[in-house]
Amino acid sequence: MLRSHTCGELRLDNVGEEVILTGWVQRLRDKGGMLWVDMRDRYGITQLTYEEGITPQNLIDQARTLGREYVIRVVGKVVERYSKNDKIPTGAIEIVVHKLEVLNPAKLPPFLIEDETDGGDDLRMKYRYLDLRRTPVRRNLELRHRMMRETRNYLDQHYFIEVETPVLIKSTPEGARDFVVPSRMNPGEFYALPQSPQTFKQLLMVSGFDRYYQIVKCFRDEDLRADRQPEFTQIDCEMSFVKQEDVLNMFEGFISYLFEKEKGIKLGKLPRMTYADAMKYYGSDKPDTRFDMRFVELNHLVKNKGFKVFDDAELVVGINAKGAAYYTRKQLDELTDFVKRPQIGATGLVYARVNEDGSIKSSVDKFYSPDDLQHWGSAFHAERGDLILILAGNKDKTRKALNELRLEMGERLGLRDKNVYSPLWVVDFPLLEWDEDSNRWHAMHHPFTSPKPEDIELIDDRPGDIRANAYDMVINGVEVGGGSIRIHDRRLQEQMFTLLGFSHAEAEAQFGFLMNAFEYGAPPHGGIAFGFDRLCTLFGGSESIRDYIAFPKNNSGRDVMIDAPSPISDTQLNELHIRMKNIPHQ
Ligand code: AMO
Repeated sequence: MLRSHTCGELRLDNVGEEVILTGWVQRLRDKGGMLWVDMRDRYGITQLTYEEGITPQNLIDQARTLGREYVIRVVGKVVERYSKNDKIPTGAIEIVVHKLEVLNPAKLPPFLIEDETDGGDDLRMKYRYLDLRRTPVRRNLELRHRMMRETRNYLDQHYFIEVETPVLIKSTPEGARDFVVPSRMNPGEFYALPQSPQTFKQLLMVSGFDRYYQIVKCFRDEDLRADRQPEFTQIDCEMSFVKQEDVLNMFEGFISYLFEKEKGIKLGKLPRMTYADAMKYYGSDKPDTRFDMRFVELNHLVKNKGFKVFDDAELVVGINAKGAAYYTRKQLDELTDFVKRPQIGATGLVYARVNEDGSIKSSVDKFYSPDDLQHWGSAFHAERGDLILILAGNKDKTRKALNELRLEMGERLGLRDKNVYSPLWVVDFPLLEWDEDSNRWHAMHHPFTSPKPEDIELIDDRPGDIRANAYDMVINGVEVGGGSIRIHDRRLQEQMFTLLGFSHAEAEAQFGFLMNAFEYGAPPHGGIAFGFDRLCTLFGGSESIRDYIAFPKNNSGRDVMIDAPSPISDTQLNELHIRMKNIPHQ
């Protein structure tokens, strides 16, 4: 090694030792008679010191030529610092330099490589390799590394074996668009990049692997958000000879193990909520249960009193924002504007305040007597100082809008503390959802998900009421994982494809390999996949999964550092048998 120690390890015990350090120049402070250089590597920062009259002048002159981010190697002696810095672990010592070697000079970085930087998002992404030198960003990746290691530990302890599955495959329908790769050797044909290794892991169960996992890249061409990337990582798992209960227990164990190892938190048994309850009480299949503020339905209390908006509504439903009666007119107007935004789509907001004397004042007093309002108050268990917020309209849309309002109020009232974790299972998802655009049923999870045996009889008459053996793990309003018990029987799988509008020939062409495999001794099986980037983000207390990915894409799916995607040459296009239409040459 070019060094004897790292920049993070020297302490008072090392005083008097001759050491060799390598690293980057973080900062240079020149006070005339004294000169200090902060030297940084992955492990920490060590201070180099030069003192006029003690350090030879030529060494001081040489140090003055250093710039930020120069790569250097120094030989020196560890001494105790006169004024110690208790903010860093090496803060009790410094190095009196005998020799300095510049291993590589550096251009001035385009932004400050400090915990707080002056670089905007775009600039930091363009120079991501410099951004990654910053301690907070590096810490995120260290967390990711530990999470990956503990994931492997847990799954290994439970006899899961890691098997790699191919990346050039045929499309798997997980609901998003595929990224496709043209095949040179098969003109006009394309591979798809996996949206997940779903079919392969099921085939591995047919092969008898019993317990499989893979920490695996998945690719989905969908609109991006803070918690979505076009390529992301799953902890993908599958088990044979299991019922839903077994999978839930195994992965409850997994998440508890991660929390204990990484955060020292003991989770206890995870609560379960049915999909139907999640929608009814939170308006979302991924409820943030760090705070209560459940929905209260009011149809029976508010109809036929002459208020047309409520009379015409399919659902009148509200929340109790505890202690928020102090909200001013201006704040309430802000909330009304919030729910009326096109993304949320409510037509208006009705509120009722519980005053200090217990009386209730609402924005629709004209239609409701003080007695009526007291009944509202009881339905919400409202107390003095509480603020009731009510929306009305179409059931699904109103629930969705109230979910947004609930999250907004949770945020405003400081109820969404990122250091509090509230995990749960959401279970009993519907098997199918109706897609208005294509006018047909879609699999809510994916087409390999098994219906609940007791609901199969609904398949012909009320397919929309069939519940699936499917489950999601939700933490703080984030869907961190999802899975299901699978169909392992050819006939049922065929029936499912028919229900989803596949012709016999289409099902055969796309999934014949899987259905054939089911005829050669497929065990009952089920599994789950966790969004690994999302888990890390949650553990790290951040909002954006990009912070936990070394080289992420931006919101238009671009890697601005390597400038991808990019055009390819005509020669490549010809080899791939691709003719470009209507695309301007760049
Ligand atoms: P699903 O589609 O629910 O299930 O995906 C599993 C988990 O992956 C995460 N996730 C994402 N993370 C970041 N960016 C994305 N674009 C993205 N899309 C999904 C979520 C999600 O819960 N094959 C099934 C699993 C199974 O049935 O076993 C599947 O892929 O956290």
